[in-house]
Amino acid sequence: MSSTSDDGGETIESIRSRHRDAAADVVPEHTQLYIGGEWQDAASGETFDTLNPTTGEVLASVARGGEADIDRAVEAAWDAYDEEWSETSRAERQALLTEIADRVEEHQEELATLETLDNGKTLMEARMDVGGVAEQFRFFAGATNSQSGHTRDEPGVHGEVIREPYGVVGQIIPWNFPLAMASWKLAPALAAGNCSVLKPAEQTPLSVLRFLEIVDDVVPDGVVNVVTGYGEEAGDPLSRHEGVRKLAFTGSTAVGKQIMRNAAENVTDVTLELGGKSPIVVHADADPEEAVGVIAMAIFANTGECCEAGSRLFVHDDVAEPILEGLIGAAEGMTVGDPLKEETDVGPKVSQEQVDRTMDYLERAKEGGATFLAGGDAPDDEALSNGCFVTPTLVEGLDHDHEAVQEEIFGPVLEVFRWDDYDEMMTLANDVDYGLAGGVITNDLELADRTARDIEAGYIWVNTWHEMSPGLPYGGYKQSGIGRELSVETLDYYTQAKSVKYGLD
Ligand code: NAI
Ligand code: MG
Repeated sequence: MSSTSDDGGETIESIRSRHRDAAADVVPEHTQLYIGGEWQDAASGETFDTLNPTTGEVLASVARGGEADIDRAVEAAWDAYDEEWSETSRAERQALLTEIADRVEEHQEELATLETLDNGKTLMEARMDVGGVAEQFRFFAGATNSQSGHTRDEPGVHGEVIREPYGVVGQIIPWNFPLAMASWKLAPALAAGNCSVLKPAEQTPLSVLRFLEIVDDVVPDGVVNVVTGYGEEAGDPLSRHEGVRKLAFTGSTAVGKQIMRNAAENVTDVTLELGGKSPIVVHADADPEEAVGVIAMAIFANTGECCEAGSRLFVHDDVAEPILEGLIGAAEGMTVGDPLKEETDVGPKVSQEQVDRTMDYLERAKEGGATFLAGGDAPDDEALSNGCFVTPTLVEGLDHDHEAVQEEIFGPVLEVFRWDDYDEMMTLANDVDYGLAGGVITNDLELADRTARDIEAGYIWVNTWHEMSPGLPYGGYKQSGIGRELSVETLDYYTQAKSVKYGLD
């Protein structure tokens, strides 16, 4: 029951050689921190390696930033803010963000290749990510003009509300969409007039660093600073730093809670985009073929490494058979393999640690009585044996309160539940700590509306998945987070309101 792996005569060596060739053009041997517009090693002089999850080989040695580097970066960011950035007009920031978008588009292929090498996502997915990065910067370039204060006028009273940037913000991002997550953080922060200290994930630092090289002459020194390193060593001091006035984090709920605790020490404002365990509700009228397409995309895109992945399927009894049959075919028909090859559908996970985590959940699911309808293992292909591959997996028969159902697996694993009673189904659909996203598949508008309203989550897709147009706020209910990204209101989370009252009597 394993999905198609790519058996076009590949060997470990042929894949490695393709990746070495691609890396030769875009990957440096050693990367540095970017502080105050200067490239520099970590104060400790230490480094760590970032690996290629397709081949298991080292891609580059990366500066291992720590507390001293965070201190320097926060100082550089304040210098930039005080000396220059706080004086910029909206129009200037708008021009700058637009220029960044242009540069990203000019370097799309190079950035996408870096993303594929460092993260393992397919080149097609990486190209879409990079396209989205440019779109983020363009959107927030425009959004700066939509932000306005308001006034309160009465006889003898004039009051106004102005919105001021925080100054310096700290931003910590994950590895699943490395450059896209950087753009979701940087674009609104800069548009609103802040300077940033950004910490990329230790698994995937390369695309963000290259991005800063590409825009180095556009962004004034110190406005964006990047400190690579581990969470405990670089992320933790950033989240505790007194000079950071706002924290924005995307990643696991456990670390999000820790960041919130750290933020409490300085009463630092915080927005969090955390995990998800999103339900896909399929009604009895769904067209099975269309449903299969949406569901497969919802769970298998980006190898399941999406916080918004649809990972719990609630399929109505009347259509369960054809849909599950179609899903088994889709899962087994996917080409798992080298993400640099155009025909690959599913690349590796980001790291061996992530594979172990997924396999551990699958093991526990087995013990919990799960039936595996598809996948559940590594692909049966020697050429892929050094990579972090997991086959697209369908699981049925788990109790809804099993930990593999309640917790985020973050892999290509879909858990199936059949239903015929809407209310009982919806109780289960909402019976998780998460509330990031959800979806409904039906051609009945009233049912779509009812289900969209009943799911406790911040983003609902009807007959589609993953598409997130800038302009629609994105963020979680319950333990999936605080705050909203991707929209004009995001600027409110990067500014603070100041009321000014004039005495006119
Ligand atoms: P993580 O939450 O540890 O990593 C995300 C970022 O936080 C990284 O930059 C990391 O260096 C940083 N970090 C880690 N510990 C920190 C600390 N104590 N203080 C400050 N920053 C810290 O996630 P991890 O371990 O890579 O993945 C574990 C699970 O988290 C995944 O299996 C998945 O379930 C979930 N996750 C969710 C994401 C999302 O998009 N919501 C993204 C990545 C992971
Ligand atoms: Mg890597």
